Amino acid sequence: MAQRYLFSLELDRLPSLQSDFLIIGSGIAGLFAAYKARQFGSVLVVTKQRAEDSNTEMAQGGIAAAVDEADSPVLHLEDTLEAGAGLCDARAVEILVTEGPLRVMELVKLGVRFDREGSAWDLGREGAHRRRRILHASDATGGEVARALIREIRSDQGITLREGCLLVDFLKHPRSGRCVGALMLDSQSGGFVVCRAPVVITATGGAGQLYQNTTNPAVATGDGAAAAYRAGAELMDMEFVQFHPTALAMPNVPRFLISEALRGEGALLRNVRGERFMPRYHQMAELAPRDVVTRAIVREMQKTQTSHVLLDISQFEQDRCQTRFPNICDRCRNYGLDLSKGYIPVAPATHYVMGGIKTGSDGETNIPGLYACGEAACSGVHGGNRLASNSLLEGLVFGARAVAAGWQYLQQLQPEPHQPAGCLDGRSPGAVPAIDDRYWQATSQRVREIMWEQAGIIRQGQELSRAAAELERLDREITCLTPTRSAVEAVSLLTLGRLTVAAALMRSESRGGHFRSDFPSRDDAYWLRHIVFQI
Ligand code: SIN
Repeated sequence: MAQRYLFSLELDRLPSLQSDFLIIGSGIAGLFAAYKARQFGSVLVVTKQRAEDSNTEMAQGGIAAAVDEADSPVLHLEDTLEAGAGLCDARAVEILVTEGPLRVMELVKLGVRFDREGSAWDLGREGAHRRRRILHASDATGGEVARALIREIRSDQGITLREGCLLVDFLKHPRSGRCVGALMLDSQSGGFVVCRAPVVITATGGAGQLYQNTTNPAVATGDGAAAAYRAGAELMDMEFVQFHPTALAMPNVPRFLISEALRGEGALLRNVRGERFMPRYHQMAELAPRDVVTRAIVREMQKTQTSHVLLDISQFEQDRCQTRFPNICDRCRNYGLDLSKGYIPVAPATHYVMGGIKTGSDGETNIPGLYACGEAACSGVHGGNRLASNSLLEGLVFGARAVAAGWQYLQQLQPEPHQPAGCLDGRSPGAVPAIDDRYWQATSQRVREIMWEQAGIIRQGQELSRAAAELERLDREITCLTPTRSAVEAVSLLTLGRLTVAAALMRSESRGGHFRSDFPSRDDAYWLRHIVFQI
């Protein structure tokens, strides 16, 4: 299978770095993988901005794990399978729920401070969980986890952390097809760097920036999945995108996440007329699965011709909101919201991409030497819809498993009889006219608009076809490429946007996060299957 590269380069002329493990990304999956890999060899972690800039850092709710006596991995498994709408890989879910509590306790040993109530864990509840099982650190759980892991990584002499290093392409040995490293754009030197390693772990996170409205940070452009696709990896379940029901909806304010944990503590959803509506849509009301709540909100917004609904927090005891959710309250106030009115205006926003690089239960891809974990991967644990707070857990469990499998692979590796030729065949970065970064930013912006308007929460065949045609036109317009972050990100978004739309068009049914108004029912007779793309 051929590999497509973005640039034409002579690798041997470029500066290079060598390690046993190359880990790309600094969210929970990448950081935990680095921590685990350290015992087996040298580790290079590269990340495109600062180590702290990730979806993990922004995660509020917490980590779901069956750590309570009244809970069990079996119940957690059942809830995960139910949310996944028939498309989870049951074996991957079993691994997740059984190994999860052990990995979480490793975090505790590393100094992560989850909230306690006396000697017991103070467990939260979120949508579609039948038990309280969310470990949290106030409402800034991801920040607490990232803090402990980054401290660990920075203080370890055996781990090199290189920030400002953007993945461009994976490198494969021309004979064996093994992944042998990656080409990066390095903001320190302003040029390309070749990172060589026999084990490459992609933990580049999700692609929330595919959509106009997202809870994700600016770095979430899916570069890992797009580069893996160019390298010949399989991408699966791309049509399954999770829209979080409640992001802050104020004019000229980012779609800051308003955690589901507020509804877990009793906050209610009302339309702008003040009517509580969720009991009309689902027996679990405000704690129904996310896709159900999201579509109910869209319907209420359409009915009342507004762009938001209200999250009613007036029934919280005085100060309860501030003490349990200080981060959310402070951010809302900083954006100018008066919380004493007792409600927060909210609307859905893209939150999580269930699809990604298809992996087995050890994070392995179809390319030897290339592993994927965390949101960049599609390990099968989420199926058609991710259960709330399962993603940090997935990063831990499958980050650790990818390292263990990579170590096995490394030990069995025979030296290659022939060195990689060292030439990439793509577009020449030197010979193209300099294109203003604004061109690439405008391209990314257009992708986001198309995806939100035509391939968003409620999809329909004709609109998806229009989206496909427009994305293809944008792709064809790119006849040359500049070696800049904006250009690489625009290509990532276009690649993933096109695959998402193609899969959404193909899946002529509604299931989990994918809803087609022209095929509103679930079709188990035909569609209990996955869509997989490969170049
Ligand atoms: C939330 O806090 O509502 C988000 C948790 C998650 O996405 O898992």
